[in-house]
Order: sequence, then C-alpha cells, then structure tokens
Amino acid sequence: MFETLKQMASKIADCRIEALFDDAGRAGAFSLNGLGMLFDYSKTQLDDNIRAALLELAENAGVAARRDAMFAGQKINETEGRAVLHTALRNLDAAPVLVDGQDVMPEVLATLGRMETLAKELRASNVADVVNIGIGGSDLGPAMAVLALAPYHDGPNCHFVSNVDGADIADTLAKCDPERTVFIVASKTFTTIETMTNAASAKAWLAGKGVSDDGKFIALSSNVEKAGEFGIPADRVFGFEDWVGGRYSMWGPIGLSVMIAVGPEGFRAFLSGGQAMDRHFQTAPLAENMPVLLALVGIWHNQVLGHATRAVLPYDNRLSRLPAYLQQLEMESNGKGVSMDGVDLPYNSGPVVWGEPGTNGQHAFYQLIHQGTRVVPCEFMVAASGHEVDLKHHHQLLIANCLAQSEALMRGRDLDEARGKVAGKFEGDELERQARHRVFPGNRPSTTLIYPKLDPETLGKIIALYEHRVFVEGVILNINSYDQWGVELGKELATALGPLVSGDAPADGKDGSTAQLIDFVHKNAG
Ligand code: F6P
Repeated sequence: MFETLKQMASKIADCRIEALFDDAGRAGAFSLNGLGMLFDYSKTQLDDNIRAALLELAENAGVAARRDAMFAGQKINETEGRAVLHTALRNLDAAPVLVDGQDVMPEVLATLGRMETLAKELRASNVADVVNIGIGGSDLGPAMAVLALAPYHDGPNCHFVSNVDGADIADTLAKCDPERTVFIVASKTFTTIETMTNAASAKAWLAGKGVSDDGKFIALSSNVEKAGEFGIPADRVFGFEDWVGGRYSMWGPIGLSVMIAVGPEGFRAFLSGGQAMDRHFQTAPLAENMPVLLALVGIWHNQVLGHATRAVLPYDNRLSRLPAYLQQLEMESNGKGVSMDGVDLPYNSGPVVWGEPGTNGQHAFYQLIHQGTRVVPCEFMVAASGHEVDLKHHHQLLIANCLAQSEALMRGRDLDEARGKVAGKFEGDELERQARHRVFPGNRPSTTLIYPKLDPETLGKIIALYEHRVFVEGVILNINSYDQWGVELGKELATALGPLVSGDAPADGKDGSTAQLIDFVHKNAG
C-alpha cells in the first residue's frame, strides 16, 4: 500500500530539507493557516509530489466518507458496534445528531446544563478541594486541561488520583480537609479496579475522619446503575452514552473537574474550540485540512520512512501532561495489529508517542534527537504569547529555543563547521576526532504548531486537531481506532494474580519468573 510512497522516499533519500528552502515559497506552501493557528510542516522532506501522493492515499482510503459517517452517527466502531460521537459533546449549536434515528443533542445539552448548575454551586460553596478519581481517559484529559488552563482557574483546587498505588490517594488526601472536599468518581464503565479501589478508600477516609459522605461524591459514568450501587444518588450522577470513547470523553461529564476549575463559561470556550476544529475538519478540502495534513505527515514518517516514534514537544510548561494524554489518545487508538477485517496489518501500526515540555527536554533527551542514530520526527508547539506579562522575556526565550531546535534539527552541522569549532584547541588527528563528536547530521524533520495563546478555546482546537489526526491515520491504516482490546489480557491476569500476591492462593502452575517474583514479595513484604 505504501509502495509508491516508499519509492518516492528512496528517490529523495539524499535530499536535504534545508535545500527545499531554495524555493522562496516553501514555507508558505507547506504550512496551513487556519483557526488562528499556523501549522508549519515545511521542515520535512515532503515536496509537491509526495504531498500529492499522500493526499491521494487519504482519498483512496475514503477519509472523507468515513469522516462523514462518523459525524453522522454511523457505527464505525465495528468491533463494539458503537457510533463514535464525542463531537456531539461539543456541538454547541445543537444541530441534530442521530444515533439509531434518535437525536442525542437534547440529552447532551441537558447533561451539560446539569453540569453547569453543579459546577456553579460548588464554585460558590466552601468546597476547597475537588478530587477526581479516575484513570486513563477518565483522568488524563481533565488532568491535562486543568493544568493547561491554570491562568483561568478560579474555582476550588482540583486533584487527580488515578494510580491504584496507595501512594497516589494517600499523598492527595494529605492535602485535603475532609469537611471541604468533594470526590468525583470518573469511570465510563464504573468497574475499573483502580478507580473503584480508590473510590472505596476515599469513602473510608471520610468515615475515618468522622465525616459523612452525604453529598461528597459525584459520579461521571455511562454505567448509571453501578454508580447508584456505589451509593451516589441519581442527581449526582452524570451519564454519557457508549458512543463516547474513554479517551475522547473529556468534552462531556468527564470534563466536570475542568468546568469546576475554570467555570462553565471557560468550559464552553473549550468546547467551542473543539467544535471549530470539527467544522474545519468537516469542510476544508483535504489539501487544506489541518488534521488531514498532520496525519499525512505522521503516515509519511512512520509507515513510509519507518521512524518508529514521534516526539511531541510543547514549549508550553502548562502542556506538560499533553504528551501523556496523547500517548493514550494515539497509542490506544492506533496501536492495533489487525485491520478492520481482522487480518494482520502488513505495515506498521501507529507510532510510539512520547515527549516532554521544552526547554526541559533539551537538557535531557534532545542529545539523542540531534545525534542519535535513529531519526525521531518532532512535533513542536508554542504560543506566540504567554500569560505572564511581567515575564515577557521568558516567553521570548522560550520561543527562541523552540525555533532554534527545529532549525538545528534541519540544518545540522557538518564536519567542516565542526572543525572550525575546535580549531585552535586541537590539531592533527585529535582535531579530527574532536570535530567528529561535534557533527550534527541534521536533515531531521519536525513540524511546528504555533497559536496566539493557550486559552480554553485554543486548547479545544489543539485537542480536537489531534483527535481527528488519529482518526485520519486510523482510516488510512484501515484499523479500528475506537476499541482497545489490547488492555484486556493484563487486566484479566491482574485479577487472577491478586489472591496469589496476597497469599490466599498458591503460585503453583505459574511460570518460573512470575512465581519467583511472588515469592520475593512474600518474603519481603513484612
Ligand atoms: O484500560 C483501558 C481503559 O479502558 C481506557 O480505555 C479507559 O480510558 C480507562 O481504561 C478507564 O476506563 P473507565 O473510564 O471505564 O474507568
């Protein structure tokens, strides 16, 4: 499937990205200005022919038809028989969205209204701390967004407990006053062992402090019945349907902590940013469509050139949880080994996604990005201005660093230039040896997304951009981006191992390694 593109890649293997800028129009021609943001993909090896071939790939894969099917509520999550309609959660103008012939918008907006009422009530109350207990999609999105929107945070403190490691909840509760704390149990299924264990411990903590849990718990779930069984009254339960995937759920009830933090208006601005990206994705021609182009750059780097990972490098400290959020979004969605038809994929699945905010990463792993033997395509992002008006010079330095990295990755430093750096300090063979350590191969691709400021609306645009990017890559790879069977086996085995770890069942029959590890626990757990 990628043969033509691979042939094109081998033809341009020696082409230097820098040389592409001999064409004065390069930057403009390989960038997209839209929704107030600039997506610059000119520092890649894409040329007109490659881009055209990639666009043809998207067309042949039926991206537009599949996109329309998604927005129309068709059950494109075929292995679970579900529609994929997180976009309905940000469909603020309420245009009807049908699932099985039923308009889901009245219910979506009613829930949003209930969330707003509760958020206002909590923001006006003496509640000081809100603890969101959830994991994966019920944690990463809101945790990422609450941090990202810190300058807009004027509600109670928000904490996030996800790990079943008791350290997580213990460290969090140590900061909270039981009388003034409210818990949000966020779980689509309301069966996730980590979340249920943490929720039960939160209840026990209140009881241990002699505080009634009456009115202290809120549930966000599509399993309203289970939430009721946990003891949360119906008026404190915010439901959502199975057509909202966990990792796509922060736009609805799962985003309640974000709404409590920044207020209903700020949350609506976030939704409207997402909705603006939806409209762009639905209406812009593929060649001018930001999610499509971001996806095609991804396909080019991963499936065509074989670069197994991509780094997401926000030059935005408040986006420090974005790489973790994107890891779930991208890797749980497109880390699949079979196609829609259940046939082994004849090409790579989605890439390993990782990253850290700049400039911190520069002082840690950028060494490998610049001089390591593997190429890591980088996705930079940065705001034109920060929120700290008194610290404008910080922001200018931040931007300069971001731009310097993409330039350095592209240009590199050849041996002659490296020799110049050490000439005078060394000579002869030693000069040669020293110079070689200072060579940067360059020609390393990157993209940069630049936006005016990280406000709620912009955050909404960025998150929806990445969601649709994942969608487009999934369609091209012909995989189901909306199931996650790959997480099941570990869960089953963990449940089975519980009694062995606690010593209630013998470890007989386990492989030698597992048995030995359990034995060590028994001997050392005290
Ligand atoms: O185990 C993976 C997963 O199912 C994710 O897809 C999901 O976001 C997470 O667990 C949490 O699930 P829930 O919201 O049902 O507790």
